[in-house]
Amino acid sequence: MKVSLKGSKIWLDGRLVDWEDAKVHVLTHALHYASAVFEGIRVYTTPKGPAAFRLKDHLKRLFESSKIYMMDIPYNMEELIDAVRLTVNANGYRECYVRPIVFRGYGTMGVNPLNSPVQVAVAAWEWGSYLGSNAPMKGVRCMVSSWRRINAQSLPPQAKSTANYANGGLAKAEAVKNGFDEAIMLNTEGYVTEGSGENIFRVKNGVLSTPPASAGVLRGITRDTVLKLAQEMDITTERVNITREELYTADELFFSGTATEVVPIREVDGRQIGDGSNYPITAKIRKRYLEVVHGEVDGHEDWLLYLR
Ligand SMILES: Cc1ncc(COP(=O)(O)O)c(C=O)c1O
Repeated sequence: MKVSLKGSKIWLDGRLVDWEDAKVHVLTHALHYASAVFEGIRVYTTPKGPAAFRLKDHLKRLFESSKIYMMDIPYNMEELIDAVRLTVNANGYRECYVRPIVFRGYGTMGVNPLNSPVQVAVAAWEWGSYLGSNAPMKGVRCMVSSWRRINAQSLPPQAKSTANYANGGLAKAEAVKNGFDEAIMLNTEGYVTEGSGENIFRVKNGVLSTPPASAGVLRGITRDTVLKLAQEMDITTERVNITREELYTADELFFSGTATEVVPIREVDGRQIGDGSNYPITAKIRKRYLEVVHGEVDGHEDWLLYLR
């Protein structure tokens, strides 16, 4: 989805700047060597004004991703919360997607990242349904990618690093070129991991399963939310390895992610999932998820951080 941020304000290294001034040098280390980690957070309207959903959990993951890559973020949690608040409010958004990124800036060329300064930016934009406006109702068509998800022995899959998205980007491009909406990636052992930008869930005989973190998936915050909400709805959940054929024989499959939210999958590799249109458990979870993020139900206020 094309978004134009022109005219917006972006927070860069401690202050808000105009869109056209939020620039880096072409010799920025991260541009050459993928030395950057980032987050994606959604802000939703609630009865008490715009609220960022699970902001602290996202920022905690950002600090953990940075730690894995030995990048000391020159701001603390409260300062980054303020940066998000400032960015969203400066742009007057009531609902938006927020993108904090921590990257190695211009320092020295060469693979060694340690001599390049750590910079931080926060941008925000209004973003509709990530997999397309029809995706939430009609479901998406997927292919199992010929690219395998990065392996923990080569790159840490649980760090949300830009480096991982070279892998995801290959899978996504392959899927799009072949006429699909999204790719599903297997790991090097052949087990299902996730989509190029979202976690995956399977429903079979009323049981909801998702691959374990050890399969090499990003520990999605939406994944965690879905598991908690499903348990509250008395749906049995499990984190187990899922095989390719178990995708084909699922009653329901869906993706979860901050940008994606909860979106059904209606086809994998030419096999229709379930009856191709009715996904009752997915619909129930999606409905609950949207109520929770919009602050419409009691019990999960602690997941909402009000921004005004
Ligand atoms: C590769 C990948 N997996 C899973 C997710 C879902 O994570 P979250 O629910 O924290 O947004 C994302 C979203 O950023 C992602 O890029």
